[in-house]
Amino acid sequence: MIMTEDELMETFLQESLLEKCQDTKKAQQLPPPPLEKPVPPGTSVFRLPEPDLLPDQQINFLELIEVRASVRQYSAKDITLKDLSYLLWCTQGVKMALPKGGTMRTVPSAGARHAFETYLLIQRVEGLKPGLYRFLALGHALMPIAVEDGALEELYVGFKADRMVRESAVTFIWAADFPRMTYMFGKRACRYIYLDAGHVCQNLYLAAHTLGIGTCAVGAFDDNNLNAALGFDGKNDFVVYCATTGKF
Ligand SMILES: Cc1cc2nc3c(=O)[nH]c(=O)nc-3n(C[C@H](O)[C@H](O)[C@H](O)COP(=O)(O)O)c2cc1C
Repeated sequence: MIMTEDELMETFLQESLLEKCQDTKKAQQLPPPPLEKPVPPGTSVFRLPEPDLLPDQQINFLELIEVRASVRQYSAKDITLKDLSYLLWCTQGVKMALPKGGTMRTVPSAGARHAFETYLLIQRVEGLKPGLYRFLALGHALMPIAVEDGALEELYVGFKADRMVRESAVTFIWAADFPRMTYMFGKRACRYIYLDAGHVCQNLYLAAHTLGIGTCAVGAFDDNNLNAALGFDGKNDFVVYCATTGKF
């Protein structure tokens, strides 16, 4: 079971803001967890359009900040593969793997841990079979997880108001690979994982808008149901935050 909200609050309150991260696995010089969840042997992955080759979007920055808003209704239009590549690049794109572990990405992350895996509930992306996919940030590739008919049904059930998810072109699910964060920060990882998620989702809002794609953050999901549908134990792996997207 994932920590309840009460337990989480208790953890926050117990910690001093200045607490040093002692006794972490890093402090004990234990080997770090991998930068990304491994790809099961025999799984076919395919590379997304190169981020370097994606057209940049000319936009007035202040206007972008001011027009950003949550969009909860989408047209029936497909998102292109280039658009999806751009959104994934802007939210989790890896600019550099660091020699001592960690990665530098297009968003900030405490200790450069970048402890998220991005799962994608894909319904309307040109050239992709609808289904559940995982983004492989290190290779900027996609890994299909479940693409058979009806594969998304049990995932929808995890959302408190599933209409928006069902009607989205792509719903992003950011799931913590928690040992990647606790490795460096111990208990403070509880705090950082949620802070990191805000940066990721904000980049999605902004990047999507430049492409004519609307976004809505989603925190209203049932932890147990959604974690179970994704095969997570709720302690080492758990859903932190989601967002729906679709063309205006
Ligand atoms: C942490 C968080 C969780 C949210 N969860 C939901 C949600 O589950 N469903 C929803 O419709 N909107 C959700 N929102 C969107 C907010 O309702 C929205 O940001 C707010 O009403 C302000 O509107 P704006 O984004 O258009 O400025 C969430 C936003 C945040 C930051």
